[in-house]
Amino acid sequence: MNRSVKGAARLRGTITPSADKSISHRAAIFNAIAQGEAVIENFQRGADCLATLRCLRDLGIEWNWRDESTLRVKGSGRHGLKEPGGVLDCRNSGTTMRLLAGLLAVQPFFSVLTGDSSLRSRPMGRVIEPLRQMGADISGRDGNTKAPLAIRASAVHGVHYRMPIASAQVKSALLLAGLYAEGDTIVEEPGPTRDHTERMLKAMGADLAFGESTAVRVRPLAGELAAMSLRVPADISSAAPWLVLACAHPDAELRISAVGVNPTRTGILDALAMMGADIEVQEERSWGPEPVADIVVRSSRLNGAVIDGDLIPRAIDELPLLALAACFAEGETVIKNAEELAVKESNRVRTTAEGLRRLGAEVEETPDGFRVQGPQKLRGGRASSHGDHRAAMLLGVAAALAQGETLVHSPDAVAVSYARFWDDLEAISAR
Ligand code: S3P
Repeated sequence: MNRSVKGAARLRGTITPSADKSISHRAAIFNAIAQGEAVIENFQRGADCLATLRCLRDLGIEWNWRDESTLRVKGSGRHGLKEPGGVLDCRNSGTTMRLLAGLLAVQPFFSVLTGDSSLRSRPMGRVIEPLRQMGADISGRDGNTKAPLAIRASAVHGVHYRMPIASAQVKSALLLAGLYAEGDTIVEEPGPTRDHTERMLKAMGADLAFGESTAVRVRPLAGELAAMSLRVPADISSAAPWLVLACAHPDAELRISAVGVNPTRTGILDALAMMGADIEVQEERSWGPEPVADIVVRSSRLNGAVIDGDLIPRAIDELPLLALAACFAEGETVIKNAEELAVKESNRVRTTAEGLRRLGAEVEETPDGFRVQGPQKLRGGRASSHGDHRAAMLLGVAAALAQGETLVHSPDAVAVSYARFWDDLEAISAR
């Protein structure tokens, strides 16, 4: 199936993007092993978080929908998970697989994690290797580097692990395992990745301490985690297409409501500000352990920039959108040290450069990111999401910035994290 998108003459309106995927996965998993009942409002109902919920049900957790977006999870306590009768299917969701790998490595039963062909081709050695150092009995296909993963009961001890790659999923897996390990676990990361796990576990009563830089120590659970009800903010990764669309468009003003603005996630705001974007963050407030704000974004005169360092892990899922913004900026933009893009739901250096090229842009692929000379004009064309939700959204906003018509192949990939994406694009676009 294809989706036809025409360039938008004018963009106006207020959008509430879909709920934060990272926070929703964590709220479900952590409440599953807590004591008590949690009510999670504005839970992300996309395919990825539903995969987490199905796995939790297979592990004996009871949950149900109170209404369309309110999830009730009945915690089973720290020793309440049950051996699943079949294989746990994480589908397309890396967060589901990596977080559950950490949690299951410390359970007294056998489990197997698998996923779709994209997930089965993604690197799992990064989580298998440190869990094995902790004493876990976990193995995987292809020399312990890929899923399916098989996990057997084993005694696990704390370690001091310096992660070679900045990954919030790996960090979270190790912190979860650390809750059940003998002795303390310290995880150090090479750059600041999203800290939703630390915020939520701490709020639920886990003993976490933070070092000077990006090190976190977890002590084994002394008692139970307390169930935590919360309201999930909108996902800044789902706000990002609108931020880039509006600031690259000549006649735009959009308001984006109740977006999570956790500083470990706001690299996109900082990078766009560096490029000269007209973005205002208003009414910052707290929703449980997470900061939330409304964001107003207007047409901007963008300039090129070098995007590197801490901005990379803080904007990892938004880097393809920054390559699009760069097409509309004066001068050169370089995005570097972003090798991780190659191992996301698709190879995002490839899918971004190829997709934007098909719409008439010139985006150079480099071994660790992109190089773009702007400003350019996009004419539209035919391009595929390759089943990657973020590639589909990138093509959607690129098409709205192009002069002609674009046909996006596999547009339904957006359902992984933002089912209403195409409706929202339609609602703000005037022709
Ligand atoms: C996520 C962490 C990031 C990110 C992904 C969600 C998370 O992945 O790309 O979309 O929820 O922890 P890595 O941990 O692989 O960097």
